[in-house]
Amino acid sequence: MDLKFASIYYSQQGQILETTEIGSHHISLREWSDEVKRLARERDAIILAHNYQRPEIQDVADHVGDSLALSRIAAQSSASTIVFAGVYFMAETAKILAPERTVLIPEPRAGCSLADSIDADQLREWKSQHPGAVVVAYVNTSAEVKAESDLCCTSANAVEIVAGIPSDQEVLFLPDQFLGAHVQRATKRENMHIWMGECHVHAGISPQDLRRKAAAAPESELFIHPECGCATPALWLSGTDDLPAERTHVLSTGGMLERARTTRARSVLVATETGMLHQLRKANPSVQWEPVNAKAECVYMKMTTPEVLLRCLRDGTTEVEVDAEIATRARRAVEAMIAVGASSLGGE
Ligand code: 13P
Ligand code: SF4
Repeated sequence: MDLKFASIYYSQQGQILETTEIGSHHISLREWSDEVKRLARERDAIILAHNYQRPEIQDVADHVGDSLALSRIAAQSSASTIVFAGVYFMAETAKILAPERTVLIPEPRAGCSLADSIDADQLREWKSQHPGAVVVAYVNTSAEVKAESDLCCTSANAVEIVAGIPSDQEVLFLPDQFLGAHVQRATKRENMHIWMGECHVHAGISPQDLRRKAAAAPESELFIHPECGCATPALWLSGTDDLPAERTHVLSTGGMLERARTTRARSVLVATETGMLHQLRKANPSVQWEPVNAKAECVYMKMTTPEVLLRCLRDGTTEVEVDAEIATRARRAVEAMIAVGASSLGGE
């Protein structure tokens, strides 16, 4: 089957209204989804999709979740192939955890501006300035950077991971400055050094965006991803009239989903990549879900189109490889990350 999808339109509620295609075939989304599932069965493949993927990719996946939940599922799954609809470091993390399995990424050019903000040489140089410090790397890093780190974390468990390090030990936290500031505030740790990296999508969700939206919707709850440029100012303002503490929540994408299921708010402003809104709307359709910045789209996450996923399953491309020695060193740090709070999968 050789199909090209030109565009798929969504209503405000994230429902698919129409599909169109280029080329000689016309195919409904249902037919595409059946074909994806058939090819996945043929390959004994499990499809994992991050919360920022396109809605149609989320809907066809076996599991949708945050980085932590998807890493855990990758480690536990018995499928011989893992198809990771996300960005490269996520597929690489799955390969580190499941080296004996085939890991496919539909679009290998799907990078991450945050992961690119530090490389292994820069980390080695930083470590040489702080001998004996514990290195905590956010999962949004390359395999080489993970191999130089003691512990990995995601936004769902960063506070817990850093809080578990003896208080007299220096910590190097990388690469996200906004998540680092959040962790430092939550743990009240003074001996923590933070790498000044950022994600271009989240850094672009500004304090001004948040204040303007919050002022226009005074009843709304606020869900803020800790990578956001507005996360730190939001917590300064939290407890003021601008942002009452009881309606301001700093959450990983999985944490947002958990809270979505129980919130009693009638409307919620969401500060993260807009793909998240699809799962939130499905989890609680009675809430009015609004992005703080509707332009906050990760181009890398959106590279996995229906056509690209179909090709991946049909041709078995592209296989993710991690050098065995790097993977062995990185595995200790990644396994420590998935062990924290492992009693439930969470984040799905
Ligand atoms: P989560 O860890 O919340 O899934 O976020 C991953 C990510 O890439 C954020 O931009
Ligand atoms: Fe990386 Fe930012 Fe995209 Fe997440 S949203 S994958 S941190 S570039």
